[in-house]
Amino acid sequence: MNHQGKRRGEDGFAAVIDFLLANARLVLGVGGAAVLGIATLAVKRLIERAGRPPEDEKADQKAMDSWEELSLVSASPKLLKKGIEGVVMKQIVAAAKAQKAELNRPVSVAEKPKAAEKEFLCLTLQEKLQRYYQTQVVLSVEDVSRAQQQALDICTEIQGFLHSKHPDMPLGDMHLGGSLLDDFQVMVADHACLLVPLQVEDSLWALIPGEETILGNPQFWMVRRKNLEYFPRGRSFWDRFLVGGYLSSKLITEVLNKTLMETMNWPSISSTVECQVRPVMGSQELKLEVLGQNSKLYISILPTVCLNNTILTAQLEVTGNFDNLWYQSFYTSETAKLAELDEKDCGLRKKCVKTLKAVCKNNPALQKLSGRHLINLILHLSEKESDWTEAAFADRFQQAIKEMIGYLEIWCLSSYFKENVNLLSEFSEEEIDEMGFMLYCAVSEPEVLLQAL
Ligand SMILES: *[C@@H]1O[C@H](CO)[C@@H](O)[C@H](O)[C@H]1NC(C)=O
Ligand SMILES: *[C@@H]1O[C@H](CO)[C@@H](O)[C@H](O)[C@H]1NC(C)=O
Repeated sequence: MNHQGKRRGEDGFAAVIDFLLANARLVLGVGGAAVLGIATLAVKRLIERAGRPPEDEKADQKAMDSWEELSLVSASPKLLKKGIEGVVMKQIVAAAKAQKAELNRPVSVAEKPKAAEKEFLCLTLQEKLQRYYQTQVVLSVEDVSRAQQQALDICTEIQGFLHSKHPDMPLGDMHLGGSLLDDFQVMVADHACLLVPLQVEDSLWALIPGEETILGNPQFWMVRRKNLEYFPRGRSFWDRFLVGGYLSSKLITEVLNKTLMETMNWPSISSTVECQVRPVMGSQELKLEVLGQNSKLYISILPTVCLNNTILTAQLEVTGNFDNLWYQSFYTSETAKLAELDEKDCGLRKKCVKTLKAVCKNNPALQKLSGRHLINLILHLSEKESDWTEAAFADRFQQAIKEMIGYLEIWCLSSYFKENVNLLSEFSEEEIDEMGFMLYCAVSEPEVLLQAL
């Protein structure tokens, strides 16, 4: 009886949803309606679920359903409030605003995107993804080489300056690293990374893994001065950056900050490299802003230590208040592994990573998922999936979303190259909820992720 009543209520609710959606298209336009659709769909599913006996469940739906259940049992009101009001309403407001702006534009201009939108709706997911990749994800060759050139010009200036200021500082060749170099950047070529290799002596320094330190975090390391009894303090140039017997990432960053940000003559360098370069103040990173004619590029300067095949970077924004911690980057191994797999079977793993990266960048609820999370996601997926051909683009994309939901559910995505590093540990419960909610909505309607909001 009760069950019947629920079912009838559900039908009534479905009718309301359909009515709402039909009219939303008129009021909000297609983009806005799709967003509203997420909200109503989620509500509908929660209600369906409440009225459904448990034995209805299919095994392969388990991952999705348990997320749903989790939200229903423990966070239903919270989820609805936060998810719908927080994430979705913001987007509806944005869609309404855009709609209003469009109404104020001359008709001839407004017509074209409308037609394109209608056309977009008729495509298969595979076709939509291909189009999204071509129009949203890929950078133009010119933009990439412009950004690379700017970064390299500045690299040369910095290297020369550091050498003249600290001729005895043992540094390797500064070089460009990261996504701008490896073609992993998406949407706009707007950030670059300059690595400053500190040459530390194997015989004088030892790496202490994070698990063995008080923090117990396997993503971090400490660099300890050793053999002090035979080679006293001062033997290594880097001894002046010791704090409590360890090489201090913070002291090194501070000294470089003083030298580079405060002492370098940026106006003069700007005229040499023909764009406006200035340090970004108040940041925990060593960061420069480079303004070109129609471009803006941020350059991060990262001191790195490489000992015993382990690459460590001084990244105060992740190591926080701990002066002696170094962050272990697996970026090089991860991208190399992905390239190797793709090369073997002409696969589209990298294309998947880049598409997901753009999706996350475009979506406020997913913005915290970065290239690091997505590369690891695809590397793990490569262990169970062998078909990475172009034809499988949509399948792998959807599968990646479901896999990610699974990782969010257990709050753990382990690093491909170091299993005990959990790449999701940096997120709060709310962030995890928000990402899970958004991705869950995308399971039934992946297109919601392809709107450039
Ligand atoms: C570098 O110094 C400037 C002030 O001169 C400060 O705003 C910035 O946060 C410092 N950056 C780092 C990484 O310490
Ligand atoms: C280098 O790594 C190997 C294995 O990973 C380890 O056995 C060795 O102790 C490490 N050496 C130093 C100097 O940390």
